[in-house]
Amino acid sequence: MVKKITVNTIRKFKENNEKFSVLTAYDYSTAKYIDEAGIDIILIGDSLAMVALGYETTHCIGVEEMQIFTRAVAKGVQHAMVVTDMPFLSYHTDISSAVKNCGLMIKGGANAVKIEGYSEYILNVIRRLTETGIPVMGHLGFTPQFINTLGGYKIQGKTQEAAEEILKQAKELEKAGVFSIVLEMVPQQSAKYITENLTVPTISCGAGKYCDAQVLVSDDVFGKFADFKPKFARKYGDIKSLIYTCAKQFNDDVKSGKFPSEEEVF
Ligand code: KIV
Repeated sequence: MVKKITVNTIRKFKENNEKFSVLTAYDYSTAKYIDEAGIDIILIGDSLAMVALGYETTHCIGVEEMQIFTRAVAKGVQHAMVVTDMPFLSYHTDISSAVKNCGLMIKGGANAVKIEGYSEYILNVIRRLTETGIPVMGHLGFTPQFINTLGGYKIQGKTQEAAEEILKQAKELEKAGVFSIVLEMVPQQSAKYITENLTVPTISCGAGKYCDAQVLVSDDVFGKFADFKPKFARKYGDIKSLIYTCAKQFNDDVKSGKFPSEEEVF
């Protein structure tokens, strides 16, 4: 029996000062392989809008699409906790539709959801989701769904005052019930200060080494998405070249008559 990562495991990671890993996945086979590799949380990030569907921003993806990708990923996972990123406008209009939309991801196989930002309303959403039995991961610092109000891809929490503000928000999220918080594009020293003052773990997305966990977009890690590479992402492979080489070889073999061979026919 494979041991499943739960909110309790995540809590213990922080208590024991043990780092954990988070990677995105959008399909069944990728989820299966990264789960087998021991990744602790698999996130169906709304980054999939850009890296898998080719949209310009994360705004264009909807609840129905996120549920389809959640189903695919959840089917491939036995060990990791599966978290679905709630898309733009799926939890912003009113609490009952937020609960309904988040519930659809749980029905699709997710173990938790991630929601971006901080406001009185967001705190109420977190409280209600937690009461409903839906664990919530928060997301502060740079929040891509707010790109238009933030004025672009901008580092957040640069000054002591700004770091204090993120910490204040994080403490409110913690009180409302989140089990972890992503800190995106926050300077390392600010993220350290925030992490040291929280009881829930922080997950760095370009927020340095002092956070309790690290998250990256799998297509960046595998070297598959090549339109741009964030400064904080590390490329561990070159899937893009591998796909090109395999496709080119197949194309050549078909056209030269080398495929199929006698062993590949009935
Ligand atoms: O959408 C996403 O993939 C994310 C993570 C990178 C944190 O939100």
